[in-house]
Amino acid sequence: MAVHITIIGSPDRKLEESVRASGLRPTVASAVDLLALTHPAAPQPDILVMDIRAHGQVPAALGVVKRQHPSTSVVLVVAELTADLMLEAMRAGVNECVAEPLTVEAIGAAISRIVAQRTSAVGGQVFAFVGAKGGVGTTTLAVNVATYFAQQRHRTLFIDMHPSYGDAAVQLGAEPRFSLLDALDNTHRLDLAFFSGLTAQTRAGVTLLASPDTTTNAPIDPHRIRLLLDFAVRNYRYTVLDLPRSNPAMLDALEVAQSIFVVTNQELASVRGACRVAEALSRRYSREKVPVVVSRFDKSADIGIEDIQEVVHAPVQFTFPSDYRVAVQALNEGHPFVLTDRGKLAHAVAAFAGQLAGEPDEASAPLSKVRALGARFGALRWLATS
Ligand SMILES: Nc1ncnc2c1ncn2[C@@H]1O[C@H](COP(=O)(O)OP(=O)(O)OP(=O)(O)O)[C@@H](O)[C@H]1O
Ligand SMILES: [Mg+2]
Repeated sequence: MAVHITIIGSPDRKLEESVRASGLRPTVASAVDLLALTHPAAPQPDILVMDIRAHGQVPAALGVVKRQHPSTSVVLVVAELTADLMLEAMRAGVNECVAEPLTVEAIGAAISRIVAQRTSAVGGQVFAFVGAKGGVGTTTLAVNVATYFAQQRHRTLFIDMHPSYGDAAVQLGAEPRFSLLDALDNTHRLDLAFFSGLTAQTRAGVTLLASPDTTTNAPIDPHRIRLLLDFAVRNYRYTVLDLPRSNPAMLDALEVAQSIFVVTNQELASVRGACRVAEALSRRYSREKVPVVVSRFDKSADIGIEDIQEVVHAPVQFTFPSDYRVAVQALNEGHPFVLTDRGKLAHAVAAFAGQLAGEPDEASAPLSKVRALGARFGALRWLATS
């Protein structure tokens, strides 16, 4: 379901327009409708925006709404936020206060915070992948992890977050007609019926929201990404994101992600890239949320795991061996290798994905039913600890 938002008590349309600009379509109600919401059986909006700029009083009914319906989130819009008013708002159970001057940004940020809190409270998990540098194997890893989840019969959504020309659709053998941008343009309409019209169902069992095959100059709004991820988490057991490295909006709305994996190789340029990306993301989130993984791992390469850890200041959580033939063949056929391949690379990805899914090590190699290798690669997890 799309996030349902109601505005009450607003004397003009400016507030409504600010909410619309954040990607939602609010219902506007009058002050007397607040009383109706206090009824224990009254259907509730997800977010109630209460505008008290005209009189500066927190209505008693607002506290009753919160007591009867604790999951209704409340944004209070005030002319000036005094200490007394803040105390009153807290007592009434208000979640966010926004004061004049009313800007689209301030309203959007308050809604975003509420959506992010709501989203973390529900079941689905989000794993994001971002390359330290172009071509390190990020999409290959993300696509195969998502395929593993789907093969374990989990509802799995893959979102190619590149605002243009992402290539996850090729790797998943899909030809989607709609894209991420259609979803972001329609965050107010996100329900399963609408969303399934935007996505492609892939042979691997993964539902794909693809990147558009066109360029766009329109800036990406992080508030809308939060709404999209909120929808994803409510409807899919696993959501896997293939992130562009150089789009700040895409990297700014990932509060809900369990982990944001920085994918690197053992080349100086990618290790330096990993350092930059991991540092920026760790400042925005936390170090623990931004593990580093090494693709095309070669144990005799000049740059070893310890060198990477030293430069990036983070443990390498997992390594994936190099197998160009398997990776390229899978890519060319649009057939993720975890589906059929029996080699080391497929086993490593399966072991990794199994661990993300919380499976015991030996359960996580078995697309090919060969368990010993899975357990061995499983041991590489945390191979370098902090
Ligand atoms: N473990 C691996 N071993 C060998 N080759 C690999 C491996 N993983 C990926 N590749 C190959 O590396 C190339 C780049 O892979 P991929 O498109 O996944 O990288 P990327 O980081 O997503 O690139 P981009 O920055 O263009 O999005 C492809 O030809 C792919 O088949
Ligand atoms: Mg890619």
